Amino acid sequence: MSHVLQAQQVVDGVYWVGAIDWAIRNFHGYATSRGTTYNAFLVMAEKVTLVDTVKAPFHDEMLSRIASVVDPEKIDVIISNHSEMDHSGCLPRIVEQVKPAEIYASTAGQKALAEHFRPSFEITAVKEGDVVDLGGKTVQFMETKMCHWPDSMVSYLAEDKLLFSQDAFGMHLASYERYADELPAWLTEHEAGKYYANILLPLSRFVAKTLEKIQASGLEFRIVAPDHGPMHRTPEDIARVLGWYERWAAQKRTNKAIVVYDTMWQSTPKMASAVGDGLAAGGAKVKLMPLSGCHRSDVATELLDAGALVVGAPTINNTMYPTLADALTYVRGLKPAGLIGGVFGSYGWSGESTRDLAAELERMNVEIIGEPAKAKYVPSGDDLEPCYQLGLRIAEALAQRAT
Ligand code: FEO
Repeated sequence: MSHVLQAQQVVDGVYWVGAIDWAIRNFHGYATSRGTTYNAFLVMAEKVTLVDTVKAPFHDEMLSRIASVVDPEKIDVIISNHSEMDHSGCLPRIVEQVKPAEIYASTAGQKALAEHFRPSFEITAVKEGDVVDLGGKTVQFMETKMCHWPDSMVSYLAEDKLLFSQDAFGMHLASYERYADELPAWLTEHEAGKYYANILLPLSRFVAKTLEKIQASGLEFRIVAPDHGPMHRTPEDIARVLGWYERWAAQKRTNKAIVVYDTMWQSTPKMASAVGDGLAAGGAKVKLMPLSGCHRSDVATELLDAGALVVGAPTINNTMYPTLADALTYVRGLKPAGLIGGVFGSYGWSGESTRDLAAELERMNVEIIGEPAKAKYVPSGDDLEPCYQLGLRIAEALAQRAT
């Protein structure tokens, strides 16, 4: 028997049979700098059950892990907690191979899977609170609409107090370690935060509802098993991830200001430094984020707790420099709430960048502090003073908000 690509036991009768994607660096626009995993689980009850599948190119890896436990053709039931293709991509192929007696998804999942795959197989819709007896183990379904998609649901294996939580509580992190307690705490907090900021932030009110529902259910969790990254198995780790979600869903803001900018001829960075100096002098925590070195998803991650978003760009062809348009369009879609901000930029002829930047911040409901700071060609000392003052005013506004 092969020793490679084997399943890993989670608890008695439950195995991780997912795939590790060490190479992925772009997950629909989100820079996954540490790769990811697509987690799938095999439940060895009387009815052999597969919970979720993996992204299509990883079919063979999942099948190999399943085969290390049981002949895949013995799978009786497939549960699809979430229809996005990183979890359903190889569903049609695996159904074709194993011909399960039942495939369960939420009502919205049934529809979404049909719209993705136009399948020839039947999918049974399950509703909130439905329980399926797998023979020796029972699974209960809970709808978690919009965490991440309308179809999202979670499955609770009662006997093992094990929650298969699909995207919720996950992170993009490729590793051999299957549990959060085997990894550095700073790393799991960072990657879970990055995941929340880039995937779930715009859905925060649904996340808050899900957390309330989980609390009201009275269910106990021994293991929380998301579809990406490590599982949470210690009471501390489970409390920690639930606590993070509560905090992130509330969009609690700090006195951190991020200064996001790009440049053509090194004038805007000089202005960004002056803005940063003013922010720091006013007592704000400051992070400068040149888009030549920071990805849009890193900007989103910093905005998880930042209180201010200050943006700067040169003008090119009567509009803002396009990397700012990219980052701001992306961030706007993530709907960060309760931010203040300001704009600055250099120009040669007409100087529309600050107008465009301000319009973008307004579309994001960012409260703009002060006037735009502008500099023609290369900023002089006189040009940098308004940048410093803009930073100072924003820091003062942040301090006022904290009181
Ligand atoms: Fe991991 Fe919403 O898919």
